[in-house]
Amino acid sequence: MQRRNRDIMIDQTIIQQLKQNRDAADEQLQVLIEREEANTPLAAAADEVRRAHYGTEVYLRGLIEFTNVCKNNCYYCGIRAGNHTVKRYSLTREEILDCCAEGYALGFRTFVLQGGENPAYTDTEIYRIVAEIRSRFPDCAITLSIGEKPRASYQAYFDAGADRYLLRHETANEVHYARLHPAEMSLANRKRCLWDLKEIGYQVGAGFMVGAPYETTAHLIEDLRFLQELQPDMIGIGPYLPHQQTPFRDCRSGTLSQTLRMLSILRLMFPYALIPATTALGTISPIGRELGLKAGANVVMPNLSPVRVRKQYELYDDKICTGEEAAQCRGCLARRVSNAGYQIVSSRGDVRREIEE
Ligand code: 5AD
Ligand code: FES
Repeated sequence: MQRRNRDIMIDQTIIQQLKQNRDAADEQLQVLIEREEANTPLAAAADEVRRAHYGTEVYLRGLIEFTNVCKNNCYYCGIRAGNHTVKRYSLTREEILDCCAEGYALGFRTFVLQGGENPAYTDTEIYRIVAEIRSRFPDCAITLSIGEKPRASYQAYFDAGADRYLLRHETANEVHYARLHPAEMSLANRKRCLWDLKEIGYQVGAGFMVGAPYETTAHLIEDLRFLQELQPDMIGIGPYLPHQQTPFRDCRSGTLSQTLRMLSILRLMFPYALIPATTALGTISPIGRELGLKAGANVVMPNLSPVRVRKQYELYDDKICTGEEAAQCRGCLARRVSNAGYQIVSSRGDVRREIEE
């Protein structure tokens, strides 16, 4: 018990330093990443920082999963090309616009178009979709999350009116990256994409899975170091969860507890960042998203996809929100956010790099 108390004290000092410096030595990060006792003090410090920057505001992003066709074969992902048991779908431009219209009426001012890497959506088609949303909903932010593309494509989508781009780096370690992806994919290209997006002028989101197969604490520290270099506006993380139709079907999930610690560490290192309480967090625990908000997250992403395709966008087993209409997800999350002690706001929710006086 004596020893335990002293350990907790050590955690407190490290946490205060991390809060002050937005940085810590690898050995200190290791302690915070690995130790269960760190959860409570980490969440308390992270919550102070989020309140200083963003108050109790939680931003809404309407997620439109517009296609589950993907040419890639990432070993962890349920919609990988090699999974022949999924029924594939692709929404038309009009269907996507209908989702936006429904979302707009529900108060959404950011739409996230997420999909597999589906070559059927040519650059011209993506350009037309983005341009049409931009003209019909001029006060909304448009976020794309459609994977790795040449720089010229990113530039074209930006010119059409896209504001933000989400592309998780997945892991910043080369060897680990190669264990999670087939040889055709590379960490170097992933990073190239992120830097291109940033240079073009997008608000950029990166991120990773917590507890992915073969992941070590050292890898998580490398993720934090990479994020320090990139300085993304958004950071998305969630626990790894297995999917039965992938080569990783027998791998263990990440844990709620470690994901919460990582969320708090991210808030302390990147006070300005927009960090979602993700669907994966809500899947691993019925109160995962509430706990995520209390640990430092400040974004929620209710699903706006048509209910008839929801179940087919299954990245991992037992994904939640596959039966609920957009309005139900919106209401459900509003309740959860308020139960956690925060409130949803309907603004675009752009990044705040510095505290507004
Ligand atoms: N478990 C958790 N997250 C996953 N993702 C993909 N597959 C899984 C899984 N099995 C995440 C990846 C991807 C994002 C869209 O979803 O990090 O970037
Ligand atoms: Fe979709 Fe709760 S957020 S049902």
